[in-house]
Amino acid sequence: MAGFPQVRLRRLRRTEALRSMVRETQVHLDDLIYPVFVVEGKGLRQEIASMPGVSRLSPDLLGDEIDDITSLGIRAVLLFGIPAEKDDLGSGAYDPTGVVQQAVRTIKKLAPHLVVLTDVCLCEYTSHGHCGIVADGDVDNDHTLGFLADMAVSHAEAGTDLVCPSDMMDGRVGVIREALDESGFDDVAILSYSAKYASAFYGPFREAAGSAPQFGDRRSYQMDPPNWREALREVEQDIEEGADMVMVKPALPYLDVISRVREAVDVPLAAYNVSGEYAMVKAAANQGWIEEQRAVLEVLTAIKRAGADLIITYHAREAARWLRE
Ligand code: PBG
Repeated sequence: MAGFPQVRLRRLRRTEALRSMVRETQVHLDDLIYPVFVVEGKGLRQEIASMPGVSRLSPDLLGDEIDDITSLGIRAVLLFGIPAEKDDLGSGAYDPTGVVQQAVRTIKKLAPHLVVLTDVCLCEYTSHGHCGIVADGDVDNDHTLGFLADMAVSHAEAGTDLVCPSDMMDGRVGVIREALDESGFDDVAILSYSAKYASAFYGPFREAAGSAPQFGDRRSYQMDPPNWREALREVEQDIEEGADMVMVKPALPYLDVISRVREAVDVPLAAYNVSGEYAMVKAAANQGWIEEQRAVLEVLTAIKRAGADLIITYHAREAARWLRE
């Protein structure tokens, strides 16, 4: 009993109505977070060659972009800043009038209900392109922490809802939590890039942000791709230090990590469908080698099925249209 021919799994796949009744995973618009690159200056709209459909915008041009995003029903944006000038200490990152701080203020005026998340990391702001302060040719963990805390507080002052440390320095979540609380921002939440791997899939982002390291690589601070147990330690440590949500990044090559983190902890879990994952789909679709809409929805569904509650994705705008059809 309980085998073929009595059991026929195809019975419930016969029609779309039946399939939709037994569907286990559904991607919702509410799950999607759209990344936005803001570049310091005026009247700037710069297309990013390796990320078709994504541009860098100066804060004064955010109006139409934010209108489009909110009218599509997208609830949240994650901001990255590209300063006019970079220096050794990444001063643009924690400048109260810096580009992200300006963008947050603008967006909160334009669309008060849009959830604003801001990336907290020095790499877009440092001349050497590393995520922390460099001393003796190495990224100095403890010396970097205060700068990250200042950056997070300046984002909070501008009105961000969540800060998202992506630098992978040890102890940064605790230091940021303490700094936010001491400055009266106990209601600003932290989404930590807890398990962020030293991945080849960040290539297009580094073109977008001009943040490729000028010497060496990020392997001394971002995680080694073969490790998953270590990801759980990162996640647990971040939660202990005060992270409200945690993230696994990239998403597709790390679905197993997403699913193990999902089983291990109860906080909301985000996954970052990164620039290289986006570029691959776009490039293949552009060649006519895959069907873009089906591929994108399959990717997002897979990330959700693995256990992510939230998906940061450059596909969000197109996906929003398709999800509403
Ligand atoms: C900043 C940061 C990076 C990404 C998000 N935050 C780049 C990096 O670590 O080199 C990558 C996002 C993407 O590839 O879409 N540290």
